[in-house]
Amino acid sequence: MSRPIRDQVVVVTGASSGVGRETALLLAEKGARIALAARNEEALHTLETEVTRLGGTALSQPTDVAEWEQVQGLARDTVERFGRIDTWVNCAATAVYGEVHQLSAEEITQAIRVILLGQIYGMKAALEQMRPQSQGGIVNVASALAVQAVPLQAPYVAAKHGILGFAESLRMELEHEGSPITVSTLLPSSINTPLFEHARSKLGVLPQPVPPIYQPRVVADAVLRAISHPQPRMVVGGGGKMLELVHRLAPRSAATLLLRVGKTVEKQRTDRPDDGSDNLFTASTGPGAVEGSFGQRAKSTSLYTTALEQHPGRIRALLTAGGLLGITALRRGRR
Ligand SMILES: NC(=O)c1ccc[n+]([C@@H]2O[C@H](COP(=O)([O-])OP(=O)(O)OC[C@H]3O[C@@H](n4cnc5c(N)ncnc54)[C@H](OP(=O)(O)O)[C@@H]3O)[C@@H](O)[C@H]2O)c1
Repeated sequence: MSRPIRDQVVVVTGASSGVGRETALLLAEKGARIALAARNEEALHTLETEVTRLGGTALSQPTDVAEWEQVQGLARDTVERFGRIDTWVNCAATAVYGEVHQLSAEEITQAIRVILLGQIYGMKAALEQMRPQSQGGIVNVASALAVQAVPLQAPYVAAKHGILGFAESLRMELEHEGSPITVSTLLPSSINTPLFEHARSKLGVLPQPVPPIYQPRVVADAVLRAISHPQPRMVVGGGGKMLELVHRLAPRSAATLLLRVGKTVEKQRTDRPDDGSDNLFTASTGPGAVEGSFGQRAKSTSLYTTALEQHPGRIRALLTAGGLLGITALRRGRR
């Protein structure tokens, strides 16, 4: 299935910053009409100006994705302005870093509301519009942490696992009824976005992504690929694939490997002081940015994702070839 992006009406949540912002800019270059949703109004307005300069058409819609009525309002206003919704991209998220005993019940609840319920509300609002249209695509930006946990981010990890489960369940229902509506879930590796400055931190310092780190463009390209060529799951970045493989191949020793070899506690801390500002309960501030402060360490491409993950047929062919080679080697060994 191939869905050209030009003239599509696309809702992007989490558009004020990072991956969502980069996705909106790429969509503008491709001639899409975009509803830009997040809470930071200043950042939405600077983005709308950039989108217009690139030849796109945008509607800025301040939205708190943790509030169902606001997400419904986003869908309603998008249809009122553009007539329909072709694709809904769920990108909004926040983060709270710390050991579980350091987190308050309110912080855990809010993180789950934004990260998990925010994307569930997005899927539901999209579906309410797409079912009568008998067409549409949903793209969820989850995380490689939807498959394998790491310490210090328990609410985020739980929410991302939940997104994957909800999306898979919805996808099966749609397949069962023969619906043309598609659901794609992306599992990105660590990305150089402002998320780490936006996160609430109980570490005493600013958190940081565990390497390898990729530029937001790598994920935005994958989102566009999932819009034009929907697929149920796509790992973005070889780092995420490594995490998935550790989970699959060594489920019992994954925790020890990640803690002792991966140093996942130590590697999530910077030595930069935390100024105490975050976007857990209130919007981020400022004009908005795509990149965070880890650009010097970030990769601008992922050969693994572009060569394999975006072409599931190639993965199947490789697995089949590997299987055939294995069987041949076994037979030769027996002779
Ligand atoms: N960075 C990484 O290492 C990484 C890795 C894997 C997956 N991801 C995923 O990628 C997606 C984008 O994150 P990012 O890295 O680009 O982070 P980011 O730069 O902090 O962007 C997050 C976006 O979500 C919005 N947001 C937060 N709370 C919201 C709420 N209650 N209602 C509406 N919007 C809200 C923020 O805007 P406002 O503050 O203006 O509302 C911002 O636009 C997320 O789903 C994240 O989990 C990131």
